[in-house]
Amino acid sequence: MCGIVGFTSRSASAVGPLVSGLRRLEYRGYDSAGVALECEEGIKVFKQTGKVAELDALLKKELPEEERGKFTVGIAHTRWATHGLPTTVNAHPHIADGGSLALVHNGIVENYAALRSGLEKHGVKFVSQTDTEVLAHLVATFDQGDLLAATCEALKRVEGTYGIALISAKHPGEMIVARKGSPLVIRVGEKDIVVASDVSAIVAYTRQVIYLKDGDVARITPDGVDIHSLDFSPVSREVQEVDWDIGAIEKGGYEHFMLKEIFEQPEALENCLRGRLLPEEGTAKLSGLRLGPREIAALSNVVLTACGTSYYAGLHGAYAFEQFAGIPARIEQAAEFRYRNPIVAPDTALVSLSQSGETADTLAAVREAKRKGALVLSVCNAVGSTIAREAGRGVYLHAGPEIGVASTKAFLCQVAALEMMALLFGRTRRLSGAEGAAIVRALASLPDLVRAVLAKNDAIARIAEKHAGARDAFYIGRGYQYPAALEGALKLKEISYLHAEGYHAAELKHGPIALLDEKVPVVALAPRGPDRDKTLGNIQECRARNAPVVAIVTEGDADARAFTEDLVEVPPCPDFVAAVPVVVAEQLFAYHVARLRGEPIDKPRNLAKSVTVE
Ligand code: F6R
Repeated sequence: MCGIVGFTSRSASAVGPLVSGLRRLEYRGYDSAGVALECEEGIKVFKQTGKVAELDALLKKELPEEERGKFTVGIAHTRWATHGLPTTVNAHPHIADGGSLALVHNGIVENYAALRSGLEKHGVKFVSQTDTEVLAHLVATFDQGDLLAATCEALKRVEGTYGIALISAKHPGEMIVARKGSPLVIRVGEKDIVVASDVSAIVAYTRQVIYLKDGDVARITPDGVDIHSLDFSPVSREVQEVDWDIGAIEKGGYEHFMLKEIFEQPEALENCLRGRLLPEEGTAKLSGLRLGPREIAALSNVVLTACGTSYYAGLHGAYAFEQFAGIPARIEQAAEFRYRNPIVAPDTALVSLSQSGETADTLAAVREAKRKGALVLSVCNAVGSTIAREAGRGVYLHAGPEIGVASTKAFLCQVAALEMMALLFGRTRRLSGAEGAAIVRALASLPDLVRAVLAKNDAIARIAEKHAGARDAFYIGRGYQYPAALEGALKLKEISYLHAEGYHAAELKHGPIALLDEKVPVVALAPRGPDRDKTLGNIQECRARNAPVVAIVTEGDADARAFTEDLVEVPPCPDFVAAVPVVVAEQLFAYHVARLRGEPIDKPRNLAKSVTVE
């Protein structure tokens, strides 16, 4: 995810503090970095794809040590691509006003296309594909001599989220920062002031910080910080003490990246859904697919393909395509796709799913499907990744970078993205407006469904304590809970090294039930829905073999209590979204089992985050 650092001082060079601030933000994941530095002659910008070390090397080459002292004000950024590829041109800072204004931005400007075309009509030329460049030009347009006032005017026209920092050669020594939805924190030192999007970039200097609130805009000079609201009235924010140490902060206070990422899921889903649900029309808008109603109507089947967790999300997606759109849909293992020679045709939509966008087997499947003339679409998290580029059309997840090896937030966002796609296909084919609107409402509730399960973290940890000593476990579910069972078992085995199998609840008695006894827990997924009663029956079969059962059920489901006291309750919701809260409960269960067993959760043995070999 993107990171911001800003620095201003009366006498010290900004270069060193900006680069070391960026280094402290590296753990967030990014694909390019840049700085803008101000001196009497104007503003200089340095940008580089890749790592901060490469930006540092560029600065060392282009900016000799003896020249650095003159740059006492600057802003810097690490970018994790959302709008536009991870290129040097798209990297921040973005400039406007003939290079005299530079701006960095975290967040997403939802109405950037409308703002951009308005500015273009007034002759503004854009060089990047980003939403951020719009902000730089907008502020420059309103600059009548007061940079803070210009920023307020510009931001009043912006829909979406932002944390920004900007400098202008026309206002030497000033830096303007503002936030809405993307955090910004300020450290006021005796000799300098540092701003960052994340306290970890500044905590090495001090623990005394000011957290800006949404709607705050601040003018920062070496003399101090002046905070205002967007309507220009002054506001005061108190100085607070940071009570974390640096190691903890890099994980946002969490013990592991995986736990941090599990807790980031409501926000990840919000980012994935933002601007894509159309409640009034009862459909979804997915511009990256570049598919009109006639093209969707002409499709005769959907084939999804992926590996691992992405495969399980794809299986869920196949169910949704059939339910919402009435179009035959199936999932193929990407590793099989190329060799099994599956039947795809020009009226097949081939949907490839990949968090990293670099998985070798999924990429090979994309190439094979293109060769066979299918309409190839991608659902990727990493912008500009090979699969996204080669597919050419698709949906980005906007889940933010996943650092823990076990996939968590990408899975939930893949489910959300596929359901939006199935909804769009459904509305083109057979769903009524009212049916579509009900699906939109269910999708919009996903972040809150996840929050409700996260609130049960402690209770889930207590259940995990009872089962952390097991050697084997089964996960069972039906319908949409079947892919969720497969995903739950994968999460448990990959991080806890406990042997776990996901089965369709009905399949258990066709063999695996022979393994059940009092030492083999069964995690049964039985939220309310068409399959719940049957799964409760399967739970009884497990209890009859003395297997301990952990049941994930809907709040207030008294029947399930008769079979086990290890219950995790999820909020009531339609069956086609219930896998989302259920999987969050599974993630937390797997996490706590692995933690109690003392395993290296973020980097399990033998696993890699991106599998680029067949
Ligand atoms: C499991 C996990 C893997 C990945 C798989 C595909 O937690 O992370 O199973 O899902 O390697 O990776 P992507 O989605 O990057 O193609």
